[in-house]
Amino acid sequence: MWTTTDIPDLSGKVAIVTGSNTGIGFETAKALYEAGARVTIAARDPEKVQMAIQKIRSGTVEKGELGFGVLDLGNLSSVKKFAENFMQKHSNLDLLINNAGVMVPPASKTADGFELQFGVNYIGHFALTGHLLELLKKTSHSRVVTLSSGAATLVDTIDFDNLRLEKNYDEWREYAISKLADILFSYELDRRFKNAGISAISVAAHPGVTRTDLQRNIPGENLEGMFASFDQVMEPWQGALPSLFAATDPSVKGGDFYGPDGEKEYAGYPALSAHSTPAMKDEVLANKLWVYAENATQLTYKF
Ligand SMILES: NC(=O)c1ccc[n+]([C@@H]2O[C@H](COP(=O)([O-])OP(=O)(O)OC[C@H]3O[C@@H](n4cnc5c(N)ncnc54)[C@H](OP(=O)(O)O)[C@@H]3O)[C@@H](O)[C@H]2O)c1
Repeated sequence: MWTTTDIPDLSGKVAIVTGSNTGIGFETAKALYEAGARVTIAARDPEKVQMAIQKIRSGTVEKGELGFGVLDLGNLSSVKKFAENFMQKHSNLDLLINNAGVMVPPASKTADGFELQFGVNYIGHFALTGHLLELLKKTSHSRVVTLSSGAATLVDTIDFDNLRLEKNYDEWREYAISKLADILFSYELDRRFKNAGISAISVAAHPGVTRTDLQRNIPGENLEGMFASFDQVMEPWQGALPSLFAATDPSVKGGDFYGPDGEKEYAGYPALSAHSTPAMKDEVLANKLWVYAENATQLTYKF
């Protein structure tokens, strides 16, 4: 039963957690701070960033440092600006937690024209990681943790001709595609780190079933029905444990994927995930997605 008390001392470590004003991201940032890290709260609404910082500071443990960052993953200029500001203030980055996410919104697009879930959950994080690559490379044994989901197992491919909603919209299919893209990215990034002989690692995590604002687009009645179909629905502190384990435990290896250890990985404590489909492990698809993202973001990763 690994918990936050097992996190090693993180004094001096520099971390970014995206979407850390609420939910799993908030609990992840709080636990890293309480272990001594210098954590940047990166979220799209400056007031929410400020409120999260105050809430963490008002807790009982005061150990790390907290930084303020405005980051809209649905807008590639905002992502670039956030990364540039961050690099002006920091010369290293130990932990990048690609946590932010949006689930089953009404059909809509990001500022750059991507379907919202694919654009925020995947493209935004691809661009963010790319902009911060130099810092990650410079920092010995840095880690990139990307949040996927059990939903990634629900689709077996990516329709590259519908990523800007050229055809039709199915909110759950698009969410599943974005989370498949996240896990493909996590595995591919780790392969590229290894091939380049870089000490950084890329690790994936999924939180199981956790009650957060993520379900804001599901009407109340349907939501309670959905939650009732699971034996246990976790609170955010527990949903954050797989991310925290992936980010901090010394036993973690590049290319690992962590989730909760309970039945069907709906709830529990961190363990290696058994979620695996041919699509998730498809290296041809991972490479095709990578090339698509580099072209779409006009950003070439230089390893
Ligand atoms: N909860 C679960 O059961 C579950 C299951 C599987 C996977 N996950 C994954 O876990 C991660 C965290 O989700 P959560 O459950 O903690 O959800 P949450 O409480 O809704 O938190 C999501 C965070 O992402 C932020 N966000 C949304 N759009 C953004 C954008 N355009 N730019 C920057 N930030 C943005 C939100 O900011 P605002 O507050 O401003 O909207 C919020 O801070 C997600 O990647 C999700 O897919 C969650």
